[in-house]
Amino acid sequence: MEISDKSYDSPIKCQGIKSKLVPLIKQSVDWSFNGKWVEPFMGSGVVGFNIIPRNAIFADSNPHLINFYNAISSGEINGLIVRNFLEHHGKKLSNSGKDYYYEVRERFNKTHEPLDFLFLNRCCFNGMIRFNRNGEFNVPFGHKPQRFSKAYITKIVNQVNYVYVMSRHSNWSFICQDFKETLKNLSEEDFVYCDPPYVGRHVDYFDSWDEENEQYLFESLNQSSCRFILSTWHSNQYRENIFLKDLWSKFHVLTKEHFYYVGAKEENRKPMLEALVMNFTPEHIHEEPTVRAEQLSLFEKLAEYQRSEV
Ligand SMILES: C[S@@+](CC[C@H](N)C(=O)[O-])C[C@H]1O[C@@H](n2cnc3c(N)ncnc32)[C@H](O)[C@@H]1O
Repeated sequence: MEISDKSYDSPIKCQGIKSKLVPLIKQSVDWSFNGKWVEPFMGSGVVGFNIIPRNAIFADSNPHLINFYNAISSGEINGLIVRNFLEHHGKKLSNSGKDYYYEVRERFNKTHEPLDFLFLNRCCFNGMIRFNRNGEFNVPFGHKPQRFSKAYITKIVNQVNYVYVMSRHSNWSFICQDFKETLKNLSEEDFVYCDPPYVGRHVDYFDSWDEENEQYLFESLNQSSCRFILSTWHSNQYRENIFLKDLWSKFHVLTKEHFYYVGAKEENRKPMLEALVMNFTPEHIHEEPTVRAEQLSLFEKLAEYQRSEV
């Protein structure tokens, strides 16, 4: 597989993760890479991590995501630490099952340790991130006590190493703040990728969204001089996204069908048309994304780092 074809998964999962849209977004990002990549709703971070900007602001209102990625970029957490942690606690999970999951969940809600956050995220129900009104993580166990197999741990370790190497050799900041703050001080050379929650969908302590927010986001992006892409939904079998028509229709819109699951059964696969809204016409949309020389050098550093860890 060519490097340009490959997408990297992030170590954290979340609802609304855009892993499947990464190739399309990568093809659509028509940008000089001179300014900064600004991602006000980073979630798992998978989109920006695959764009590999030189300079980036990754922001989110959820402090636990930001703490986790700051711990990686500062070197407090690296692949080796993650491997030891997941091997140790994975064994405990395998021996005690869901009781151990709930023990870690209780501990995390007191101490907010980034490694506990990773552990919970990777064995909770559907890789969800949800906090109750007291700000406590409340996702139930995902039913798999044997979750942390050797291969699964290695996969997570590689995902952590990827962020570790990329962030340490680039100028990436991870900031916990509201999107309104992140959208201040944009310059012409910046590129903004926005993936806000969908109105009426997610509601929890760190993550809620309404019409007023959508309107504010529209006004900020509409006024800014830089390029942007907004991820949103177009329609499903029951409804259409009214905001696409009412607010965003003056921009260029790309759509792509995506299946998401409700529950575990195959027949519950529901098609959803995803949309990318952008204030420019993507000229290279049918071409392979090119790999910049500096990205190649980062991939070499990553390979070197992975070899040195074995
Ligand atoms: C759909 S998710 C982003 C998913 C991400 N693109 C990915 O692929 O993983 C939306 C994110 O917005 C964050 N969020 C919700 N309200 C916010 C706000 N007012 N300001 C900043 N971030 C917010 C949530 O915590 C969540 O991580």
